Amino acid sequence: MLSRPLWHPQSEIFSRPLTMMPNRLLAFFFRAGLAFAVQAASADEKPMMKAVVAHEYGTPEVLKFEQVPRPEPKDDEALVHVIASGVNPADPLTLNGKYAQEWGTHLPLIPGYDIAGVVEKVGAKITTLKVGDAVYGYPTFGGGWAEFVTVKEWEVAAKPKSLSFAEAAAVPMCALTAWRALVDTAQLQAGQTILIHGGSGGVGSFAVQIAKARGAKVIATASTANQDLLKQLGADVPIDYTKTKFEDVAKDVDAVLDPVGRETLAGSYGVVKKGGIVISLVARPDPVEIEKRQIRGATVWVQPKAKDLAEIAHLIDARKIKPVVTQVLPLSEAIAAEQQAATHHTRGKVVLRVADEPKS
Ligand SMILES: NC(=O)c1ccc[n+]([C@@H]2O[C@H](COP(=O)([O-])OP(=O)(O)OC[C@H]3O[C@@H](n4cnc5c(N)ncnc54)[C@H](OP(=O)(O)O)[C@@H]3O)[C@@H](O)[C@H]2O)c1
Repeated sequence: MLSRPLWHPQSEIFSRPLTMMPNRLLAFFFRAGLAFAVQAASADEKPMMKAVVAHEYGTPEVLKFEQVPRPEPKDDEALVHVIASGVNPADPLTLNGKYAQEWGTHLPLIPGYDIAGVVEKVGAKITTLKVGDAVYGYPTFGGGWAEFVTVKEWEVAAKPKSLSFAEAAAVPMCALTAWRALVDTAQLQAGQTILIHGGSGGVGSFAVQIAKARGAKVIATASTANQDLLKQLGADVPIDYTKTKFEDVAKDVDAVLDPVGRETLAGSYGVVKKGGIVISLVARPDPVEIEKRQIRGATVWVQPKAKDLAEIAHLIDARKIKPVVTQVLPLSEAIAAEQQAATHHTRGKVVLRVADEPKS
């Protein structure tokens, strides 16, 4: 994964010796020179923006809140004025640098894979977006924890009309992941049964609702404190994983969604019926278990896709899906947000507020 490079303005200062001149002439040249200098500076100066920036890999504490140059969209990009940006467990993973080589991340980086905002400027080859459009989406290489971010056309779609920008920023990465797992990979049908681990988290809370919207029966796990949320989301059989083994409740399911891994994934093979599927977001299903039980296994990796974002927005505006936003923090509190994301026990979503909601 590549992070967007940040560029830094170069400033040049020219000085010329003042020759002997009459005072009035000197004053004229000084004023004219000053006016020219101001004009030249404003033409040269790149506009700045507030952003959360990492200049080194590490824990959330390496993040700095600072002024950086505003990115300029290329011909195939749009510049989005970010109103809110979502927080994901992927943010601390990118920040720790462990996957830097694999994902192509480089410093300095601005985190933030979820955005909701207003199109500020479009490149010459942009055809479907125009200045002033309210959009939401997932910039592939992050950069959302800033006042402005550049996006490709296929990374964003029209913001769901029924949501605020802060709510819309909670949607893209998690809903796209759940969509790719349940709709594209499991091809979940009405009447089928799915076990969704971590049903109260970012991905899980969308997965429960997408599965219900498709007419499936949902068994979902979460800790004691989140049993109420599982029921509100529509889970038919909520399981408190701290008290009950899911293997004792779920039997012969058509699909399992695993955002947890380890023992949770290991115990999941045995609850799937022949021909069913185990989908993990965090590990590769064990080929030996898959073959032995005559089931299927898949690892799903999320990707931005405007078409899916549009379908998700449609379901949101039809009141079939809604994001669960538990906390909205100012952008300057990105460190706290990142620390929360690293716990893997977030209820719904945390969102960073970048700018005030525009008046409609
Ligand atoms: N492959 C991909 O493309 C992709 C995309 C998105 C996310 N992910 C990964 O998927 C994982 C989940 O993401 P997320 O955004 O949903 O994270 P999250 O918001 O932190 O949610 C994690 C969920 O897991 C639950 N959980 C924790 N331990 C559990 C256990 N032992 N058994 C059952 N549930 C447990 C938590 O419930 P309680 O709080 O009630 O314990 C919470 O609901 C992360 O590791 C993330 O990096 C991968």
